[in-house]
Amino acid sequence: MKLMQLYAAMKSDLQAIEDDMAAAITSELPLLSEASLHLLKAGGKRLRPVFVLLSGNFGNYSLETLKRVAVPLELIHMATLVHDDVIDDADIRRGQPTVKSKWDNRIAMYTGDYIYAKALTVITELDKPRIHQILSSAIVQMCIGEMEQIRDFFNVDQTVRTYMRRIRRKTALLIAISCQLGAMATDAPDRFSHALYRFGYNVGMAFQITDDLLDVCGAEKAIGKPPGSDLRQGNITLPVIYALQDERVREELLREITVIRDTEGPVNSSAAVKLVRSSQGIAMAERLADRYVAKALQALDTLPDQAAKRNLAEIARFVANRSY
Ligand code: IPE
Ligand code: IPE
Ligand code: MG
Ligand code: MG
Repeated sequence: MKLMQLYAAMKSDLQAIEDDMAAAITSELPLLSEASLHLLKAGGKRLRPVFVLLSGNFGNYSLETLKRVAVPLELIHMATLVHDDVIDDADIRRGQPTVKSKWDNRIAMYTGDYIYAKALTVITELDKPRIHQILSSAIVQMCIGEMEQIRDFFNVDQTVRTYMRRIRRKTALLIAISCQLGAMATDAPDRFSHALYRFGYNVGMAFQITDDLLDVCGAEKAIGKPPGSDLRQGNITLPVIYALQDERVREELLREITVIRDTEGPVNSSAAVKLVRSSQGIAMAERLADRYVAKALQALDTLPDQAAKRNLAEIARFVANRSY
């Protein structure tokens, strides 16, 4: 089953989540509603809700319960994107102007905070403190990951290990807990929620590596944002770390990165991007993403054979081959 067919099969439950998200962030203050609905309306893959719903199949599936996990997880994801676009000074997201560019940074900060708070309102409707704890520690880890990224801007000596630790925090954990909490909310056995966590964690790692590859190799139309953004802001991602290990491009790439760092005002990263593209960095990063996908598939082994398991496997395979 292809990804689009899979979404079609879950259409009515996903629509219910969509409606609840819109209801959750609609405010009596028009500006707050407009700014927060803006990103929601721009679309997105809705991967985290999809993981919640699929994982809920390993417990006593209940849309009413799962909505209270899926809605907050997607809202938290959205809140981090609104803030992320301030930090990354990004003008385009999901093919649309970002909140910070359509309005301004101040509006974007409060819009993000507001969406966060609404996510908490919804999750606390579930009387399961363990779920609240897991969610809040994942958010804490995301903040640490994003801070580490700022700390490591333009650090050309960082290792693959540093990178892995960072993306684990900033991306993989939220995807891991989307799977875990879908299972926990529906009272699935612990061994299922553990396996689903491992699945989500590995998919999440592959997901961010692919995101970083797309920033180097993707086309603007497909990825919904201009490529080369990471290097422009000094974010040294896996393909770049590997490219720096490639003697054929290392010296020139170091020079280009220094130029980007020392340029004031608008900066062009296309020369650096070209070097990374021509290096061994792309193939090496792709290989690592594939390894994470393989690990994710392995994590599914212990789960009972059912449609949801096959669908999770389908998404894991999509993640490493995606072009958007
Ligand atoms: C983008 O996430 C940010 C990362 C964690 C890489 P997605 O690629 O899931 O964003 P949308 O929701 O589809 O826009
Ligand atoms: C997205 O990170 C935000 C978080 C994962 C918290 P990125 O900055 O890498 O993602 P894009 O490329 O803007 O979507
Ligand atoms: Mg960004
Ligand atoms: Mg970022």
